[in-house]
Amino acid sequence: KAIHLADYRPPDWLVDKVELDFALHPSQSRVTARLALRRNPEGTTGAPVVLEGDGLTLVRLAIDGKPLAGSSFEASPARLTLAHPPADAFVLEVETLVDPTANTQLMGLYRTSGNYCTQCEPEGFRRITYYPDRPDVLSVFTTRIEADKAEAPILLGNGNLVDSGDIPGTARHFAVWHDPWPKPSYLFALVGGKLAKVADSFTTASGRKVELGIYVEEGKEARAGYAMDALKRSMRWDEEAFGREYDLDVFNIVAVSDFNMGAMENKGLNVFNDKYVLATPETATDADYSGIEGVIAHEYFHNWTGNRITCRDWFQLCLKEGLTVFRDQEFSSDQRSRPVKRIADVRMLKAAQFTEDSGPLAHPVRPETYREINNFYTATVYEKGAEVVRMLKTLLGEEGFRKGMDLYFERHDGDAATIEDFVASFADATGRDLTQFALWYAQSGTPLLNVSGSYDKEAGTFRLDVKQSVPPTPGQAEKKPMLIPLALGLVGPDGRDLPLTLGNTPVEHGVIEVKEAAQSFLFTGLDARPVPSLNRGFSAPVNLVSDLTDADRVFLAAHDGDPFNRFDSLQRIALELLKTGARTGTLPAPDALITAAGAVVADTALDAAFKAQALALPGESEVARELGSDVNPDAVYAARKALRIAVGTALAADFARVYESAASTGAFSPDAGSAGLRALRNLALDYLAVTGAPEGIARAKAQFEAADNMTDRSSALAVLAQHDVPEREAALDAFYRRFESDALVIDKWFVLQAQIPSEGTLDRVKGLMLHPAFSLSNPNRVRSLIGAFAAANPTQFNRADGAGHAFVADTVLSLDGKNPQVAARLLASFKTFRQLEPVRRASAEAALRRVAQTPGLSADVADIATRSLG
Ligand code: ARG
Ligand code: ZN
Repeated sequence: KAIHLADYRPPDWLVDKVELDFALHPSQSRVTARLALRRNPEGTTGAPVVLEGDGLTLVRLAIDGKPLAGSSFEASPARLTLAHPPADAFVLEVETLVDPTANTQLMGLYRTSGNYCTQCEPEGFRRITYYPDRPDVLSVFTTRIEADKAEAPILLGNGNLVDSGDIPGTARHFAVWHDPWPKPSYLFALVGGKLAKVADSFTTASGRKVELGIYVEEGKEARAGYAMDALKRSMRWDEEAFGREYDLDVFNIVAVSDFNMGAMENKGLNVFNDKYVLATPETATDADYSGIEGVIAHEYFHNWTGNRITCRDWFQLCLKEGLTVFRDQEFSSDQRSRPVKRIADVRMLKAAQFTEDSGPLAHPVRPETYREINNFYTATVYEKGAEVVRMLKTLLGEEGFRKGMDLYFERHDGDAATIEDFVASFADATGRDLTQFALWYAQSGTPLLNVSGSYDKEAGTFRLDVKQSVPPTPGQAEKKPMLIPLALGLVGPDGRDLPLTLGNTPVEHGVIEVKEAAQSFLFTGLDARPVPSLNRGFSAPVNLVSDLTDADRVFLAAHDGDPFNRFDSLQRIALELLKTGARTGTLPAPDALITAAGAVVADTALDAAFKAQALALPGESEVARELGSDVNPDAVYAARKALRIAVGTALAADFARVYESAASTGAFSPDAGSAGLRALRNLALDYLAVTGAPEGIARAKAQFEAADNMTDRSSALAVLAQHDVPEREAALDAFYRRFESDALVIDKWFVLQAQIPSEGTLDRVKGLMLHPAFSLSNPNRVRSLIGAFAAANPTQFNRADGAGHAFVADTVLSLDGKNPQVAARLLASFKTFRQLEPVRRASAEAALRRVAQTPGLSADVADIATRSLG
């Protein structure tokens, strides 16, 4: 049952308005839907009414108030069909019963910590009532919610509250919410339960006063302050950066502890994984704070890019997700350090998206076919989708980009739009032909750029020869050349940029456009040999191979005017060492890296956050991806450890100085500057302890015990956890006892243990699955323990005896019946298995086959298993 983009047809029936009535009950919630249906003039003539369902029990059906005879419709849990609807417009009344307590998939109406909540994107609304559950059917929703006052004193819906009260003679009460903005069903939400409210308000640029509410478990109110602050900053920023104002009188956020993903942008009622709301200095790390800021902003920004303009169909998912990720990245860049944010984003892009793009699950930013849409909420749709928007901005310039965005909002407000609509807004606003650029949405695989330079002293010219290719990916053997915006500079001997002139024309904004498979650029007016600084700011998401030498890179690491490339030059030197080390078993002399790293540590002009990024070596998964084939994860680990020891030893005095001097003073603040100091200091701690020498371990232990914030405490614990020393178990126990009652902190305890790179870890993880704090029903627990083991412990997941693979496959199978989405995500950890050396590759493949051959798999897991096996 593959679905193809090319088969898109407009809906046969539209819904002009919807009235929903919920009588909440733990196991038998009654849902009455009144749909004002109207035949779509653009649909198929005479088409029947076909409404989607998923596991529904139909109680009653009426048309225009008259009960319907059984012979005039066909109802199954998955579908409701009226073969011969009575007229071209009528009101269909449908009553269904759903069991929120038994809903372990966490899609549709479910319960979390006793509260009722919903998740409808992408296809969860059909688990609540029969409906044309597709994003191009927009309707005005009114929702009445009724519940026991004691069980659910708080009742929330989309839009504005229009009525509420007690139901006389009963212990129940009700609330009616009306959302004036037409929306697709995936943006529907309701919440009912016992929750505490943190209240604030925001006045929009045009003077609308908006009541803000963040609802959390009782007793957690004090932890929502940072999220509220981030929300208000997001609302202001969208006005300033994009001219977008909020459009309702209320904006509510609810934090829940059982949630499949990060959060959801339901109109006026965002529902969040509480991990992205709750924070105190004692319980949340700097990474948690920045995650909260980013996700709060992301969901808020969806109000315009996602809700006011939604997607025509799920193939267009990147229309809202890529664009909204780009917007939240820009927001965080403006709130924090732009270069450091860019480095962090690119690190994550390479780790998640480049890896996905080079394996069996590779797909275009806009896929053309899917079997299970839930499996396409991927790094490619989100992160590469954001890169494509960023490239548009690079190509069109600040002003052209803003004109295009303005036109997009003006043309498509209220629409269910497509990528073609989006690209056309920029083409029309700027007069630029974006046909070739649009290939970024259609072609999967990370482009490879091969760049070499030659300097002609006599002529004063520098020629850059650029070749591009896109590797074959599933379903796409042949590729066309892409339009690649390549930002670059020519760095002169004194470290300053030389003029960038092609022929006689200065290169605008330092960006050249690579369009052909092979192309040369001749730069003129150069009286010294330049060192080219290529792909500055990571202007295009490509793999770049160049003829730069280590000496060039050491030079760029110290002098490049582009901070991203200073970082990248160091990373590239390290990567080459790690690749050779992993291949040959012997690490080459790391002198160039030590020189470059030493210069960065000592440079007083650089901020701490930047230094922490530049001095952190590339991860094992990046080394593995660069090696590409025949990877032995143990060898990668050994090479990386050897290099950490070499750098830590050579720069021990510098790291000791950093560690002593940047010690935090005064009250904790989560701001970017303070976080940067902590990041650098904790990196120094790691380098000082990497040999496992007693002084290093003692320092980590002392920090673990004395820390007054979670960043320092968990960083110290992470250092201890990496070493086979008695201090490790003692610290893990102490941490558990201290934070026992705090699930989000215990998740960190699971992660650190799941990542221990030693043989005992598999048994430890199996043991932890039996720990009372673990539960297979909670997505955060599963991701922390099993997810971290499979995705962030390459040596133990890929044990040579295959036991790691078998364990994850078994866990996927036992989880699949409960929560297919989370199970499928876990199975996707196998996506790099073809890179492995033959023994490990065979055991991964056997585990995948065993999953694929299990009867009764969910569509989610079956899809990942089949595609992974190719
Ligand atoms: N639209 C949500 C977000 O980015 C993600 C929801 C995905 N949910 C899912 N069940 N696949 O921000
Ligand atoms: Zn999103």
